[in-house]
Amino acid sequence: MTILITGANGQLGTELQQLLDENNITYHATDSKEMDITKIEEIHAYFERIKPTLVFHCAAYTAVDKAEEEGKELNQLINVEGTKNIAQVTEKYGATLVYISTDYVFDGTKKAGEYEVNDTPNPQNEYGRAKYEGELAVQEFSSKFYIIRTSWVFGKYGHNFVFTMQKLAESHPKITVVNDQFGRPTWTRSLAEFMLFVTNKQADYGIYHFSNDNSCTWYDFAKEILKEQSVEIQPVDSTQFPQKAKRPQYSVLDLSKTKALGYEIPTWEEALAGMLKAIQA
Ligand SMILES: NC(=O)c1ccc[n+]([C@@H]2O[C@H](COP(=O)([O-])OP(=O)(O)OC[C@H]3O[C@@H](n4cnc5c(N)ncnc54)[C@H](OP(=O)(O)O)[C@@H]3O)[C@@H](O)[C@H]2O)c1
Repeated sequence: MTILITGANGQLGTELQQLLDENNITYHATDSKEMDITKIEEIHAYFERIKPTLVFHCAAYTAVDKAEEEGKELNQLINVEGTKNIAQVTEKYGATLVYISTDYVFDGTKKAGEYEVNDTPNPQNEYGRAKYEGELAVQEFSSKFYIIRTSWVFGKYGHNFVFTMQKLAESHPKITVVNDQFGRPTWTRSLAEFMLFVTNKQADYGIYHFSNDNSCTWYDFAKEILKEQSVEIQPVDSTQFPQKAKRPQYSVLDLSKTKALGYEIPTWEEALAGMLKAIQA
């Protein structure tokens, strides 16, 4: 098996590298300098050199609010065209493709239960729209693919909500956090483990949802992150935090297809404890 990772130095890509290292699995790690996914000739050249059989496509434009205006073109170029390029070249080499997508493909208005893999996407912001177009490109051009939708990603590497809360708590006696958006946090470590699991198991190709188990609001998440600290956390509704990109009010991903593979998913509370321990170590 010859593994290629795109976006290898991002939040998820770095975690995946660490997991592969721990398991003595070799891989080729690329970022925009080694292989710009918006340039198909660079992808062809790289693939011709290493001939991958499994591609973990973690590269993405992830600045959700910027994607609404100044980052709109880049969002389209990287998340749509870049993913299309990766899907086409991956198929040419007969490799399996793992594409990471997002809960933002959904509009967040579902009233009856959690979002299932076959629910119809209806993205409400530019990032979600582009990631969904990326999903369509993967389905059009690749015959061996796993689309893994995930949500509220946090981990030891990179910028995320956990570090933002910790930093705010250092300088503020009181923090306000939104309490009317519901989702499932996802530790990069848990996600990387599932990416390895699903490909090792050679599970049926298709769309999967992966996040840590149990759901919460950002306020619940903040309370758990800062539970050892004396900072006051006040719940507010999202009208008090206007953001350029509209977020889904409810984006709890249904995990039953993932669990049906026999995969045990840690709760987000367990995952957070694991991440905080990993930082201290
Ligand atoms: N973060 C979340 O909350 C979240 C939620 C749901 C889904 N996801 C998805 O999860 C995946 C991983 O996200 P993440 O948080 O790890 O993202 P991240 O930390 O922003 O990393 C993205 C990586 O993509 C690379 N990249 C950007 N443009 C590129 C290009 N033209 N060619 C090659 N590489 C390029 C970046 O490398 P350079 O620095 O070299 O540009 C960076 O290493 C993405 O598909 C994202 O959409 C994330």
